Amino acid sequence: MEDKQIKKFIQEYSLKHIAMIMDGNGRWAQKRDLKRTEGHKEGALRVVEIAEACSDFGVEVISLYAFSTENWKRPISEVKAIFDLLNKFITEYLDRLHENNAKIVIMGDISKLNIVNQTAINHAMNKTKNNTGLIINIGINYGAKDELLRASKKIIDDVQNNKIFIEEMDENTISKYLDTKGLPDIDLLIRTGGDQRLSNFMLYQLAYAELLFIDTLWPDFNKDILKDCIVEFLKRDRRYGGLNE
Ligand code: FPP
Repeated sequence: MEDKQIKKFIQEYSLKHIAMIMDGNGRWAQKRDLKRTEGHKEGALRVVEIAEACSDFGVEVISLYAFSTENWKRPISEVKAIFDLLNKFITEYLDRLHENNAKIVIMGDISKLNIVNQTAINHAMNKTKNNTGLIINIGINYGAKDELLRASKKIIDDVQNNKIFIEEMDENTISKYLDTKGLPDIDLLIRTGGDQRLSNFMLYQLAYAELLFIDTLWPDFNKDILKDCIVEFLKRDRRYGGLNE
């Protein structure tokens, strides 16, 4: 399908928020007798390309799972390589993303990162905070259970301090305490790498998302495969628990 057509459908079907679990970097590298970190490196390049494609298509938000609360269990060398890549991504591509009017936001508890990484992340968020184009929401030290725990603690704190009242709380209240405050719910989740699970990713925000699990390894993901995923999304009948006449 032509890019123009995809763009038109994205508006028509109100596809605002695409989330991606970028799995398969390690296997991609191992298949080529490369170190796993080479897979992450190639994966980071795909992030730039996919962000630019989504921006061209008029998608409002992409959410990317870069580093989970569970990923600390990996060898220290791999953890370091992923954070080095994130830093590199931010320093090398920040100007390009900024020129494209993209806004970088982070979900997850970055207070646990070292100061170099925190500074780079805060710089990227500050520099792009007034941009009005694609929002690139990156999960770093992110886990949905941790997000819900942090949100619950903040809610309890605000209730105790009479900032909010239990009787007035509704589902929107909870959304406002999540890391994704202000972002639309997810319309489409794409998980590459063949596994069919959510791995503690955005469990609340995925409530009514269409789920797409594909075998392509993340470093092999590209604009054409993204377009195929969007076409698949267009075929889905989204009823939100209701009935379609
Ligand atoms: C999963 O593949 C991927 C990760 C845990 C890291 C994702 C990180 C990047 C793509 C690089 C930096 C990110 C940004 C946003 C610039 P895996 O290692 O679990 O692969 P496997 O299942 O084949 O082992």
